[in-house]
Amino acid sequence: MGERDVAAVKTWVRDARRIVLLTGAGMSAESGVPTFRDAQSGLWTNFRPEELATEDAFRARPRFVWDWYAARRVGMATVQPNAGHRAVAAFQQRHPGRLTVVTQNVDGLHQRAGSAGVLALHGNIAEDKWLDRPRACCTAENVQDGHPPRCAACGNLRRPAVVWFGELLPAAALVEAEEAASGSDLVLVVGTSGRVYPAAGLARATRGRVVVVNPEPTALDDVADVVLAGTSAMLLPRLLED
Ligand code: APR
Repeated sequence: MGERDVAAVKTWVRDARRIVLLTGAGMSAESGVPTFRDAQSGLWTNFRPEELATEDAFRARPRFVWDWYAARRVGMATVQPNAGHRAVAAFQQRHPGRLTVVTQNVDGLHQRAGSAGVLALHGNIAEDKWLDRPRACCTAENVQDGHPPRCAACGNLRRPAVVWFGELLPAAALVEAEEAASGSDLVLVVGTSGRVYPAAGLARATRGRVVVVNPEPTALDDVADVVLAGTSAMLLPRLLED
């Protein structure tokens, strides 16, 4: 990564009217949140996320999958936004309406750093929802604690409010993200392997420039005008400073 590339991207940021920041797990790595495709730890060493993060897996082994999410929740609750998240929020405050955050992360760190209007395409790990369509008895008062909690009357299970493999993304957020990407002059693709669609496709939807920020090669490097091989907490404060 050359200083000349960093300088070029800084001028693109300065000149862009509409910027989209598309982020993935690497954005939170320097906060201490393990990325998705890093080695799994502990009890889950032998499972790939793709095998746990599905409706079928949850129905087959609700306690096991619930506990996997519970462990990740505990890990995420104790971490803090890093310099990258803070630089993004500060840029948005200085330049209202110029930068839209579109994230695949479910950790809420962009929001906690102060970013407004975050499009969280894969949901929020801190929230639950009903597994099956709620019946009249499925109310907050009827939630019975457990792994997972369930409706005391009908047994309907609570599940994490994240998007599992094979599920549709929240439609409104996806439409907004697509509009933001296609109307942007610059898409910054930060901390994502670029392998999971439709999120990765947003980087291909712009007619503007594309910049990848990642210490490793990604599946989106082919669409990038510039690839900056570095970390988000190191590079975003530089790229987004005035
Ligand atoms: N700064 C920037 N990028 C980093 C950093 C860092 N400090 N550390 C790691 N990375 C990069 C890795 O090189 C990798 O390319 O972050 C990327 C993380 O990739 P994944 O683990 O595949 O995460 P992500 O792209 O967000 O996965 C997409 O897949 O499992 C599903 O729904 C889940 O939202 C997730 C989606």
